[in-house]
Amino acid sequence: MIGRLNHVAIVVPDLEAASNYYRNIMGAEVSSAEALPEHGVITVFVELENSTIELLHPLGDHSPVSAFLERNPDGGVHHLCYQVEDITSARLQLETSGARVLGDGKPRIGAHGNPVLFLHPKDSFGVLIELEEG
Ligand code: CO
Repeated sequence: MIGRLNHVAIVVPDLEAASNYYRNIMGAEVSSAEALPEHGVITVFVELENSTIELLHPLGDHSPVSAFLERNPDGGVHHLCYQVEDITSARLQLETSGARVLGDGKPRIGAHGNPVLFLHPKDSFGVLIELEEG
C-alpha cells in the first residue's frame, strides 16, 4: 500500500540555525522559510535526491508542534510521511486492520495541498506516521 518516503519532519528550536546546518555543513539544497498559519507551523524544505526533510517550527499560540518542542527542547524527529496512491482506500484498509487514524479519521488537506491522514503512534511502534496522497 505505501509508496515512497515523501518526507521526514523534524521539529527544530531555531529554524535559521537548522537551515544553516543543512545548507552550509550538510551541503543540501534548502528553501526559504514559509509560514503556514493554517497548520500552525513555519517550514523549511531540505531537498534530497530521494526525499525531503521538513524542518518545522511552531507558529502561533496553538501550534500542533509546540508541546513536542517543550518535551524535546533540542528538537527531534516528529513524523515520517509515506505516500499512498489513494488515501480513501488506504484509510479503509488501515481501519479494517484495527489501526487507529487520528482525529475524526477524515483526510484533511496537508501542508502540500494534498489529502493527508495521521496514524496513532502506538500502533506503529512509537512513530507518528502521516500518509499523503500523491
Ligand atoms: Co508532514
